[in-house]
Amino acid sequence: MSTAIDDAGDRRGKRVMWTYIVCGLSIFTLMLLVGILLRGSQAAWFALDAGVFYSLLSLHGVGMLTALTISGLGTLWYLVNRETPLNEGVAYVAFSLFVGGVAAVIVSVVVGHYGALWTMLYPLPFVGTYWPSWATGAWLIGTLLVMVGFTIWCAQILGALVVRFGGLNGMLGIDYVLRNRAFVQSGKEPPAPEMFAAAITAIDGFIAATAGLLVGIALLVHWLDPTVALDPLWAKNLTYMFGHTFANLTMYMAVAGIYVGLPLCTKRSYHTSVQLTVAWWATLTFVIIAYFHHLYMDFAQAQSVQYIGEIASYLAAIPVVVVTVYGGVLLVHRSGMRWTLGSMFLFAGMIGWVVGGFAAVLDATIPVNVDLHNTLWVPGHFHTYLLEGVVLFTLGWVFVNLEARSGGQTSALVRWLVGVGMFGGGALFLLSFYLAGAAGVPRRYAVEPAPGPFFANIATIGALVLLAGFILAASEALRLARLKPAHVPL
Ligand code: HEM
Repeated sequence: MSTAIDDAGDRRGKRVMWTYIVCGLSIFTLMLLVGILLRGSQAAWFALDAGVFYSLLSLHGVGMLTALTISGLGTLWYLVNRETPLNEGVAYVAFSLFVGGVAAVIVSVVVGHYGALWTMLYPLPFVGTYWPSWATGAWLIGTLLVMVGFTIWCAQILGALVVRFGGLNGMLGIDYVLRNRAFVQSGKEPPAPEMFAAAITAIDGFIAATAGLLVGIALLVHWLDPTVALDPLWAKNLTYMFGHTFANLTMYMAVAGIYVGLPLCTKRSYHTSVQLTVAWWATLTFVIIAYFHHLYMDFAQAQSVQYIGEIASYLAAIPVVVVTVYGGVLLVHRSGMRWTLGSMFLFAGMIGWVVGGFAAVLDATIPVNVDLHNTLWVPGHFHTYLLEGVVLFTLGWVFVNLEARSGGQTSALVRWLVGVGMFGGGALFLLSFYLAGAAGVPRRYAVEPAPGPFFANIATIGALVLLAGFILAASEALRLARLKPAHVPL
């Protein structure tokens, strides 16, 4: 694939990408173990003190999302750097802020026992706490550092894309859609699909991080001077505008693996189309306001925005999922694609994205939400598209790179075992969330009412099977990484 940079630039880009991905996947592994501890304690396999449970839950939620964000941003940085050379110093500044933020959060939880989660609702982290005030401060500072790092990344990518494509018009393919005939006749090319993933992450990420920084700094001021009071509804709106968008963008970052990785497996190319461009416009516009669906139960909120939340939830997700997955399936169809761990993860990730996305928009539908709100259905849907979507896209991208670099193969037996572990174990783990949620078991309970513990038992077994599959996949990745490069260029 032709790129706009020389070999040295490509090597620098890869260094940044692998620094981000290795760090992200290391945090992911740690958080996976924490997640299993949480589910095992809900199953009463052992007793975690409730305070410890909520501290670990706080760490697991924000840690997982930050881990996947770091890997996704590294991948996109590398892909944008191939189009237009970027300053790697800026990427490392953002990276050190992520690492500093994660360290502060770990200290806040492990030493200080902070336990109010990351989407805490003011005045929660300040009243009725069982942890010292400094732990709340360390948590706030840690999350703010991550947001500043994210803002720097967004600013760098946004600036680079605007310059590369001659303004927002070119970057978002506006002329390509609205004046298509003249555009095509002039011999111009629209941005590659993965550039939309980068652009939408940068634009919506910038807006979301600004909202997050605004409420984060306000909370920090309140921590320093408790006489400064905040409006709880204002704080909740901004918290979820950041939180929902941050969590969703991990998906839109990782999907670049489909646009670039799947073509390498199928020896075909994934072209930008008018449909794909318009679908990304929908995501750009609606992902930032879909968060209103988190506030359906806030009766002080204007009623009109509840409807906006429902419509935006559908429009943010469905067009881009349908067009991307349809394109992905067409790419694979009759391509003679060889099944490797890379292609297997990418293909299965599309299934997880569709299933999780469907369960999510179902929950965002007001009459359904009345029943499912704050039940285990909610972690059911987001674990589906995160664990069996984002994580699989990330692993798929890692394996496609390792396989291309080394020319190495994974035996069919290992592929089957990894598949049974990661998809079979994952299905058991996820199904238990859905069934418990449908039975009305509430989320975020250290000790769940019946039938919660029954389903938690099945889920913990599923999670352990998944862990075994993940360990096997990780050892296979290390084996491929140690092989001598056969150098098949990406
Ligand atoms: C097998 C792997 C995993 C296990 C065993 C696990 C376990 C759990 C458990 C038990 C909860 C609490 C559910 C509740 O009662 O509300 C939870 C919440 C959560 N998990 Fe996981 N999880 C896993 C993977 C992941 C992944 C891959 C991600 C994201 C990339 C993730 C992100 C979250 C988030 C954001 C929360 C919500 C925290 C909150 O309520 O604020 N988890 N997880």
